Amino acid sequence: MLNIAVVGCGYWGPNLIRNFSSLSECKVKLACDVNKDRLAHMMTLYPGVETTTEFDQVLKDVAIDAIAIATPVRLHFEMAKKSLQAGKHTLIEKPMACSVAESEELIELAKNQNLALMVGHTFVYSQPVRKIKGIINSGTLGEIQYISARRLNLGLFQKDINVVWDLAPHDISIILYVQNEVPVSVNCHGKAHVAPEIEDVTNITLNFANGGYATIHSSWLDPNKVREMTFVGTKKMLVYDDVEPMEKIKIYDKRVKTPPHYNTFAEFHYSYHYGDMHSPYLEQVEPLKVECQHFLDCIRTGTKPDSSGIEGLKVVQILEAATSSLKNGGRRVKISQ
Ligand SMILES: NC(=O)c1ccc[n+]([C@@H]2O[C@H](COP(=O)([O-])OP(=O)(O)OC[C@H]3O[C@@H](n4cnc5c(N)ncnc54)[C@H](O)[C@@H]3O)[C@@H](O)[C@H]2O)c1
Repeated sequence: MLNIAVVGCGYWGPNLIRNFSSLSECKVKLACDVNKDRLAHMMTLYPGVETTTEFDQVLKDVAIDAIAIATPVRLHFEMAKKSLQAGKHTLIEKPMACSVAESEELIELAKNQNLALMVGHTFVYSQPVRKIKGIINSGTLGEIQYISARRLNLGLFQKDINVVWDLAPHDISIILYVQNEVPVSVNCHGKAHVAPEIEDVTNITLNFANGGYATIHSSWLDPNKVREMTFVGTKKMLVYDDVEPMEKIKIYDKRVKTPPHYNTFAEFHYSYHYGDMHSPYLEQVEPLKVECQHFLDCIRTGTKPDSSGIEGLKVVQILEAATSSLKNGGRRVKISQ
């Protein structure tokens, strides 16, 4: 039985407590938050879970095997560092840290301490995303020509990070996971409309070595909740709509071809193919439950998590490059491989 502590009981932390509590191989022993009202609320929901306002108390508790950190992003690095130094397996929410340097330091520390370090890239554990990876790997879509991701809604405005660091980590982690490839460069444009200097609408472009590219539109300033990704392949096209309750994935047998050669304008015709739409069956499982179970399995077996520190670092590399691009008028920023 592994004893878990969850640090940060705001919006997301309680979901971690609920999911870890539902797993038989672990016990949520301790919940930590500086806000006493949040802890009082946790006590009403989970009377068996101890609470503390002091992170040091979590670190000092020898019975705690692992710490899940769901505090604001600016605190991730210091807390994860202390957690690993205290000998605790560590799950950090996305994005894992505020810089590449911090992420690398955490990876090194976890390696030296021989501890599991996992990042909360929750979508990597979702049934639709796992299905999409399988479909892409099987060649059903052909060669992926481009990916378009849109994650839009009204709020929740963050005070310390812009929308790139808040919403784009989800789409970036999905794109890296399904393609198993990192981009060579990044562009990012955006604008702060509500709070000065905190961009609430951004557009990121990821450029891949094979000529493929992906666009990521992130917004806290949109009337509709949109969670949509389109994967356009040379053979078929796939649309993933996470807001859709049942048919989250739709595969369209649609494509367009240009004629290989032509002599006159009259001979030039694009060839459009319109075929069936197919929506594959998806098991209904909560992604966060799969993620929490995977964390426990990795601790027990010593295997590298699917969303390891290295995967977290790749996302932060892109976020850092996107930030640099954003501050420089959208210029292309190379990603060091
Ligand atoms: N994986 C996902 O799908 C997902 C979804 C939402 C949020 N998140 C991530 O979860 C993290 C938290 O986001 P949120 O929306 O819950 O934020 P939030 O502001 O609602 O909650 C953060 C909590 O941390 C507490 N806190 C602040 N400083 C602390 C300290 N020193 N010690 C203990 N507790 C402290 C705050 O009091 C607050 O209750 C972020 O990293 C965010 O990116 C992940």
